[in-house]
Amino acid sequence: MHKTLSVAKDTWWVGVNDYETDLFESLWPLPQGVAYNAYVVLGDKTAAVDTVKGPWFDDYIDKVATALDGRALDYLVVNHMEPDHAGVIGRLKHTYPGLEIIGNAKTLPLLKEYHGIEKDVIQVKDGESLDIGGHVLTFHTIPMVHWPESMVTFDATTRTLFSNDAFGGYGAHEGGLFDDEKPRERWEGEMLRYYATIVARYSGMVQTALKKLSALDIANIYPAHGTLFRQDIGQAIELYDRWSKQETERGVVVAYGSMYGNTRRMAEAVCRGISEGGVKDVRLYDAARSDTSLILRDIWRYKGLVLLGCTYNTLLFPALDALCVKLINRMPKKRVLGIAGSYSWSKGALDALRAFAETVKLEKIGPEVEVFAAPTAADLERCLELGKNMAAAVA
Ligand code: FEO
Repeated sequence: MHKTLSVAKDTWWVGVNDYETDLFESLWPLPQGVAYNAYVVLGDKTAAVDTVKGPWFDDYIDKVATALDGRALDYLVVNHMEPDHAGVIGRLKHTYPGLEIIGNAKTLPLLKEYHGIEKDVIQVKDGESLDIGGHVLTFHTIPMVHWPESMVTFDATTRTLFSNDAFGGYGAHEGGLFDDEKPRERWEGEMLRYYATIVARYSGMVQTALKKLSALDIANIYPAHGTLFRQDIGQAIELYDRWSKQETERGVVVAYGSMYGNTRRMAEAVCRGISEGGVKDVRLYDAARSDTSLILRDIWRYKGLVLLGCTYNTLLFPALDALCVKLINRMPKKRVLGIAGSYSWSKGALDALRAFAETVKLEKIGPEVEVFAAPTAADLERCLELGKNMAAAVA
């Protein structure tokens, strides 16, 4: 997308689409790309809000120059120092030497370390404003959503909240930028996947931020990734509120690790039990082959989780163990958990899953199933029973 687009009075989208990064944070696949949304607000003075990732400087600076239409850039508001939004600050300052850079007390050490910039910096406090003539920009810190220096910027004139990562999602813009220009099913799943991978660990801080921002009279929410909300900001707020309260839908994720198909057969029996229990939303994932971000996304969506692993070198199968580590990091709550393991010459998997269950403190649903070598008909019957019990527990 090459155009600089007007997104509110005196306000321009100067972001970029990135279809070339395969893995966001070198971790999370980007099958639909990702957008780095950045903005320019024109008053008597001019201000940019956030920038883009380093390789996209040329695209970004062309758009900034188009928006400025021959004027200089006076201010850059840095809502967040992670390099996908702050990657070109040094070059922007070089292009506009008179630029003054705005951040909070937690921003400035990062600005110095990443870009060597200490001069022409304005340190703002939570709630402080900058009048650029025609627009008053107010800065609100939202610590740990998802970095310590994270903040949002509110333009009272256009009632626009530049929310940075908050309310963001994966997926590049396919023509339309706004919620009224794309079908909800095109952005909601990618917004949840972004939440589950990037933000979920900080759900408590998201709740704090939502309460704080509820005092603002917001008409538009413009994040730094994904869809811009102008038609119905309520849907974005409602989703964020629900996800950060860890409110879930009726459904079950079944994730397994299997070397020779025996644990997979147990997982399939669990799924059958869930289905016979009347639950339609069952998501079966092979932890070794499925995109972990999709598993995390669906775990964040649904109330039920069943983990089944074979034993590998006396321990839990590595791909399932890696999923458990990521889950512990995100501190899931208000969910129900079923576990099952298999072994041949040494036990290990079920013990590891029991330890996982102890750590995450989710409500356990039985029966636990442990299978030696290949599941018998009786073993599969117990897996079916586990599935039925899960279905009842998520009702
Ligand atoms: Fe999109 Fe935390 O950077």
